[in-house]
Amino acid sequence: MCGIVGYTGPRQASRILVEGLKRLEYRGYDSAGIAVQADEPQTGAPLVVIKKKGKIAALRQEVPKDLPGHCGIGHTRWATHGGVSDVNAHPHTDNSGKLAVVHNGIIENYLSLKEMLEKEGAVFRSETDSEAIAHLIAYNYEGDLEAALKASLGHLKGTYGIACVHADEPGRIVGARNGSPLVLGVGDGEMLLASDVTAMLAHTKRVVYLNDGEVVSMLPHEFRVSDAEDRPIDPRIDHVAWELDAIEKEGFSCYMEKEIFEQPESIARALSGRLDGEYGCAKLGGLNLSKKELHAVERIRVIAAGTSWHAGLVGCHLFETVARIPAAAELASELRYRNPVVEPSSLYFAVSQSGETADTLYAMREIQRRGGTVLGICNVVGSTIPRESDGGVYVHSGPEIAVASTKAFTSQLAAFYLLALSFARMHDMPHHEGTRYLEQLKAVPGLVRDTLGQRDHVQAIAKRYSKAQDFLFLGRGLLYPIALEGALKLKEISYVHAEGYAAGEIKHGPIALVSPDTPSVFLVPNDHLREKTISNMKEIKARGGPVIAVAEQGDAEVMAIADEYIPIPAVDSRFQPFLMVVPLQLLAYFIALELARDVDQPRNLAKSVTVE
Ligand code: AGP
Repeated sequence: MCGIVGYTGPRQASRILVEGLKRLEYRGYDSAGIAVQADEPQTGAPLVVIKKKGKIAALRQEVPKDLPGHCGIGHTRWATHGGVSDVNAHPHTDNSGKLAVVHNGIIENYLSLKEMLEKEGAVFRSETDSEAIAHLIAYNYEGDLEAALKASLGHLKGTYGIACVHADEPGRIVGARNGSPLVLGVGDGEMLLASDVTAMLAHTKRVVYLNDGEVVSMLPHEFRVSDAEDRPIDPRIDHVAWELDAIEKEGFSCYMEKEIFEQPESIARALSGRLDGEYGCAKLGGLNLSKKELHAVERIRVIAAGTSWHAGLVGCHLFETVARIPAAAELASELRYRNPVVEPSSLYFAVSQSGETADTLYAMREIQRRGGTVLGICNVVGSTIPRESDGGVYVHSGPEIAVASTKAFTSQLAAFYLLALSFARMHDMPHHEGTRYLEQLKAVPGLVRDTLGQRDHVQAIAKRYSKAQDFLFLGRGLLYPIALEGALKLKEISYVHAEGYAAGEIKHGPIALVSPDTPSVFLVPNDHLREKTISNMKEIKARGGPVIAVAEQGDAEVMAIADEYIPIPAVDSRFQPFLMVVPLQLLAYFIALELARDVDQPRNLAKSVTVE
């Protein structure tokens, strides 16, 4: 959940490091730092280490504009062990100040390592687990940083992405990965190392995704990948498809706003090339399962966290109602530790925007260990979940930078709609229905664009309700997960308490929360659940609770009951989740703006959660 960057080459390292950290800031943003090899390497001069509590802007102020040095490492932190302070910020150094380390992950045995290393004379300055790595490598160092790192890895229990430099080895960066992502960027006479490709996109698109257990040693003109036993590994150089524009704000005030408004295009990308009009079916090339194997699937299970889990809930509803296959979505963090029954006839989907979420990754590994087949539904190409899964679907939403997930969610929905269609067409959905479903799916990007036209109306509502301390989000059926998603969005970026609930459940307890100060956001479907939902709305109104209703345009009955009405375009109820979520994203965004929150980087959070 932290961001690592490294640079070696002819250019001023500090500039590239700070700029790379800015790109990685979404991964963690409580403190940051860099270590740069001084520019007289022959003298073995110690490293220049600059660390600062706060965001990258605070670090930038501390780094002299003309800081010399062409090789260094940097880190942006999301605290796990030890509070947020300058001293706990990375890089951490050994006693001599010649060796510096940045680390992403958790070292579980750091206390016993610390005890051992202190007996050997190591002086610890921070409260972090990561500092133990610096002293351990120094303890094993005999003039070869790569060898020292390899000698140390066997003593580390836990997860890590590590990058380190030593003042006596000019131009060299050594990195290792176990459970936390690390990507090597191969430039023209320069090399980069980072937690993800966004930090290097401005410099190179040629990358090597390191696997767990691999160590990389790099100089400006060469690199070598090997395992901890020093067996060489033949690296595969991939080409990153993302453009630099995709990680710029492009005139929007923040990434979340940009990503909300990008959804017509990102959903279209998720569908592109996958609609088989001739057979009224979906074309999904990466599932790695034969038609026979897919046909034999008796049950579907989805594992995920947060917003991805909400997409999974919608997906499971579709698998059951459209494809008639029993399906259930489970929180990955729960599944792993409850000794799950893994049936050979079940198919599992691991859903993750980042492809790095530890809870989802470990649950996936547990299922695979028990013989289950797991397909990934992920956004970040080359991330761990798609690489370790048995096949899957990339959702192609493009880089999602805001901590609050928006466009990845609707792209995940798109993937589930395609999968549900594939299964349905294998079972009892006739050709003409498949064709109609495809036509409706094709129309979704345009309808999402129309829904975005409610921007100003939602902003006005957000202004009126921004002082509320509690919100309820209520929906039924396919819209229940959307209610959960609306509540999560509001909580995470505005810090306002919100509960997402199945509308039929409120009478079993939560209705006690209703008061004139607690708005209820109702998602009103246009199907058999409409009347039931309207009854639930009336129950809230009868108890004095204000109602904000999202419903199909022209719904006079809803308009008459609700205090606020947000119309969405008419569409078959099956596709309403795509449209219903948009006003909820906007509502959360505008309330957060009203409350002057940091929309892209809300407190206490980070984008990809690579710790359990
Ligand atoms: C979404 O707004 C959240 N930031 C969070 O719930 C997120 O969806 C969750 O951490 C899972 O992330 P993933 O999709 O990258 O696995």
